[in-house]
Amino acid sequence: MSYQSYNELETVEIATRFAASLKAGDVIALAGELGAGKSVFCRAVMRVLGVTDEALPSPTFAIIQEYDADHCRVAHMDWYRLEDVTEIEMLGVRDFFLPPWICLIEWPERAHDLLPEGTIHVDIQCDGDHIERRLITVR
Ligand SMILES: Nc1ncnc2c1ncn2[C@@H]1O[C@H](COP(=O)(O)OP(=O)(O)OP(=O)(O)O)[C@@H](O)[C@H]1O
Ligand SMILES: [Mg+2]
Repeated sequence: MSYQSYNELETVEIATRFAASLKAGDVIALAGELGAGKSVFCRAVMRVLGVTDEALPSPTFAIIQEYDADHCRVAHMDWYRLEDVTEIEMLGVRDFFLPPWICLIEWPERAHDLLPEGTIHVDIQCDGDHIERRLITVR
């Protein structure tokens, strides 16, 4: 499924509709270049899930942010600064691929092989001609 977004608010709307079908145990991998809107998309998803508070204190806070939500917990990960699969695996990320977690991962290409079967892929592609235009593909 593909969606055109012409500004940040439209991406928020697309993410809000997308989030309605999520359930505990879902893993969402968000690909797209720097500044594509992965974090914008994630924050909109988290609002739908009922995240209202600050991230919980965690030793891996730079890479994994943990939140309480309404009927699940949310892990928001950014693998940008990680080098390889082993380094990412060492953080225990697999623990977040199961209920009660919903796991949102930016820069999943750092360790593609680690993603579980059934991962939902969200690709956000920029458009060289229009700075605010994005093509968002969910598969
Ligand atoms: N159509 C759009 N959808 C989403 N964001 C947009 C859009 N048009 C412009 N923007 C802007 O692009 C930026 C996206 O920033 P964001 O932090 O979400 O990117 P990111 O993909 O998470 O980058 P990073 O790889 O650095 O984590 C924001 O400043 C936002 O206002
Ligand atoms: Mg980001």
